Amino acid sequence: MHSSGLNLDNRILVTGGGGFLGRHVVRSLLRRGFTRVSVIRSKDFDLTLAEDVQRMLRNHQADVVVHLAAVVGGIGANRRQPGTFFFQNLLMGALLMEEARLAGVKRFLSAGTICSYPKFTPVPFREEDLWLGYPEETNAPYGLAKKMLLVQSEAYRQEFGFDAVNVLLVNLYGPGDNFHPESSHVIPALIRRFLEAVESGATEVEVWGSGQATREFLYVEDAAAGVVAALEKLETSAPVNLGSGLEISIRDLATRIASITGFAGRICWDAGKPDGQPRRCLDTTRAKASLGWVSRTPLDEGLRRTVEWYRENRSQPAG
Ligand SMILES: NC(=O)c1ccc[n+]([C@@H]2O[C@H](COP(=O)([O-])OP(=O)(O)OC[C@H]3O[C@@H](n4cnc5c(N)ncnc54)[C@H](OP(=O)(O)O)[C@@H]3O)[C@@H](O)[C@H]2O)c1
Repeated sequence: MHSSGLNLDNRILVTGGGGFLGRHVVRSLLRRGFTRVSVIRSKDFDLTLAEDVQRMLRNHQADVVVHLAAVVGGIGANRRQPGTFFFQNLLMGALLMEEARLAGVKRFLSAGTICSYPKFTPVPFREEDLWLGYPEETNAPYGLAKKMLLVQSEAYRQEFGFDAVNVLLVNLYGPGDNFHPESSHVIPALIRRFLEAVESGATEVEVWGSGQATREFLYVEDAAAGVVAALEKLETSAPVNLGSGLEISIRDLATRIASITGFAGRICWDAGKPDGQPRRCLDTTRAKASLGWVSRTPLDEGLRRTVEWYRENRSQPAG
């Protein structure tokens, strides 16, 4: 029995459990000793439909829901489909928590995002500063839709005693990431472009933005360990940042990835394309204090493992 009231034989549903973070979270839960973990796929249950959410909860008799399902993507995808990112994420979260409450689910964890922070949050971002302003425009619809889970968690805890807990994740990367050119985040996009340039003998690679914006990246296995620690230990709905604490400019990141992939040509910055949020880095003091969790994988090591994984897996369809 954990302090949260969780038992290792609780039935745990992981929405988005077949996704990038989801697969690592499922592995971490099993490694931790949880034995009844079910992965929810969109082909079986469309979580934007109330009847599918109800059927899922009925079929699985869940004790715990780990809600990772979301429509996600890099700046390009967020700009092309802001309405889809807003509506589907808002609906999925709102429906799922409501139906989970009605079905008697005992604990509900949501994976939130750094995109929910205001555009000009003082760096490093502290959880207390979440509501200081509007998020960066390119990711605001996504970030705000997900942020409503925090409001719903607090409101449901207050009115219904519903045990909802929340983590806020920085940009993730690692084996199993989405490398699709239309929807990938910056690290897989750069890895792919540099490797293709090396193979085709191209001497230049164009990269979006000025390179001045900063980001923080968390290795996906570390993120999964943080999610499991939060599921076991959090006692309130107050969100907890999960990050690596390393702020790096996109320019520096690109140089590191170029070196790991063996690209020795020129990187051309397309300053006509958006940088996104100017700076990003989370303060992880709360995670350390309340979960005993810290990120363990140094960026260069994580990047090397990711490049290796992509080299070995790129011809295979995502499963
Ligand atoms: N990746 C990051 O850098 C990052 C950063 C901060 C926060 N997060 C959060 O972490 C979570 C996981 O992200 P990820 O990067 O692992 O994304 P992902 O690989 O795209 O996984 C998300 C999963 O959501 C499921 N999904 C989407 N729409 C659905 C629907 N209508 N019904 C049921 N399932 C649906 C998909 O399941 P199927 O595969 O079955 O279609 C997909 O695999 C998300 O909540 C995201 O907001 C991610």
